[in-house]
Amino acid sequence: MTAALSHTAPPAPARSAPPAPIGPHLLGLQGMSAAHIREYVRETAHIAGATGDALATIERRLRGRIIANLFFEDSTRTRTSFGIAARRLGADVADLLGGASSVNKGETLIDTALNVEAMGVAAIVVRAKQAGAAALIASRVRCPVINAGDGRHEHPTQGLLDLYTLCDRLGRRDPLDLSGVRLAIVGDVAGSRVARSAIAGVGALGGEVICVGPPALAPESLARLGCRVHRSLDDILPIADAVMMLRIQFERAESTPGTPAARPPVIASVREYRAGYALTAQRAAMMKPGAIVMHPGPINRGIELDADVADGPRSVILDQVRAGVWARMAALSLLVAPRA
Ligand code: NCD
Repeated sequence: MTAALSHTAPPAPARSAPPAPIGPHLLGLQGMSAAHIREYVRETAHIAGATGDALATIERRLRGRIIANLFFEDSTRTRTSFGIAARRLGADVADLLGGASSVNKGETLIDTALNVEAMGVAAIVVRAKQAGAAALIASRVRCPVINAGDGRHEHPTQGLLDLYTLCDRLGRRDPLDLSGVRLAIVGDVAGSRVARSAIAGVGALGGEVICVGPPALAPESLARLGCRVHRSLDDILPIADAVMMLRIQFERAESTPGTPAARPPVIASVREYRAGYALTAQRAAMMKPGAIVMHPGPINRGIELDADVADGPRSVILDQVRAGVWARMAALSLLVAPRA
């Protein structure tokens, strides 16, 4: 049954200083303390605003270090964003792509990571099809590991860039708090690691997440993650402060080793899906004044999101991409070169 719209206020955000140092890895936002999440977002904001000497200091933070990008799954923007982030901190980048690496010759993820570590890298950024892959690697190597997306599980740096964008665009940077803010996540939530990280992050900062979609894409069981589930996009649009549209992850409809379960085909037809869930210009006009449209990319224009909305005045999609570099610079800085 769909949850009712009335709700109890989310718990007040923790105000105490971080009880433990951040890290050693960044594997997910689920279970991370609000204090640590705020530390990442604050550092992202610091980097975003830095100029002059402060910027010059940031650009030297990882001088002489090498960051390994281990991408066992396709990625355009996340891999490029991590590469640019590492270079902007003064580091060099070793790019290892799934198709070109020995993983295709049967070498395991762990062996590949151990080999890359033995070459002397300062951190490993991992993307893999298997949920838990980054945690598995982190359990075996000594250097920091950053999860750049593991199956349908988590994508923590995307969650952090989304938090920064929300706080920045909705005027919640000082204090860093999302209480009273409603984020609607629309579409293939079940297949989305971006959504899992966003639900955890927004909840930790006191905001509310409503997942919207048909049962195959937004099952009631998502409520266990701390969000509400609703079937009607038209009901939610007038009350949301931000709407995050998701691509249907057709590739994850297949059985993926390491993920909880294979999925049957998720929508009957694109036409039917669009009738209920596409963010068209007509639907965008129902949104609150000042409410924003987000998308982690890649966008399937004309399926979940129409071009005039993606490129329209509410869209912060390119701000998210821009913030991605700052959020990854923040993560690499805090984990590889923490300040005393
Ligand atoms: C997402 C991903 O790969 O999880 N994209 C991204 O990282 N920017 C979402 C997607 O693939 O649809």
